[in-house]
Amino acid sequence: MESRGLLVSDLDGTLLGDEEALARFAAWYRLRRASLRLVYATGRFFDSVVALVGTTSLPEPDAVIGAVGTELTLFPDGGNVAPWPPHPQGWDPEAIRAMLAKIGELEPQPPEFQTEFKLSYFAHDLEKRFLADLRRELANAGHYVETIYSSGRDLDVLPPGVHKGSAVAFLASEWGLRCHQVIVAGDTGNDASMFAGRFRGIVVGNAQPELKALRSPEIYHSDHPFAAGVLDGMEHWLDKTAEGVFG
Ligand code: GLC
Repeated sequence: MESRGLLVSDLDGTLLGDEEALARFAAWYRLRRASLRLVYATGRFFDSVVALVGTTSLPEPDAVIGAVGTELTLFPDGGNVAPWPPHPQGWDPEAIRAMLAKIGELEPQPPEFQTEFKLSYFAHDLEKRFLADLRRELANAGHYVETIYSSGRDLDVLPPGVHKGSAVAFLASEWGLRCHQVIVAGDTGNDASMFAGRFRGIVVGNAQPELKALRSPEIYHSDHPFAAGVLDGMEHWLDKTAEGVFG
């Protein structure tokens, strides 16, 4: 049985945001690399994460869950853990794009943010009701998709069952880890799926309301922002783990 734990953290607004706190996190992690794997789960693409690791104090991760959970890549070589996402049944991005083009509230993000598995829009201050209606309209047309809304601004439409949370669950199972050995950290709506399973969670102090609203004994809300919140949360969970680092 794998004895190392796993920390999966979002980047922008979670580990990134305070360079000094990030340097403290990096120094902390350097001492724990042998017992703790590190994965970044982000809306960014892999190449952008490689560039950040080269220019900030972000430690080298073991893998990157990129493009809001639609990419899963080993670091640094860019190899696949396994084909990901799993063959999405009935996923028809062209038809979905054509439907969404008719909705005035949705402005497509620039082409460089779009992929075969990630359709991304700017959509300001959408209400829950609007999102529920949108999901229903898509489902009525046979499109069962994930709609992920973050920061009152970004809407990502992804294949069914594909998001950061399912990518973390897949990785944990590939690496032989149990739920309590996995800690996830985030700040916005595209992180929410990571908190929906049975992993231990850290919500950083600067999180958006959609994450601050999450309540569960497995979710720790830090008062500290950015990387200082991740560090505080790691100390919280490691304190609670009686049988050594991750048992
Ligand atoms: C990142 C991505 C963007 C996405 C957002 C929220 O900013 O670049 O495409 O919509 O994360 O997931």
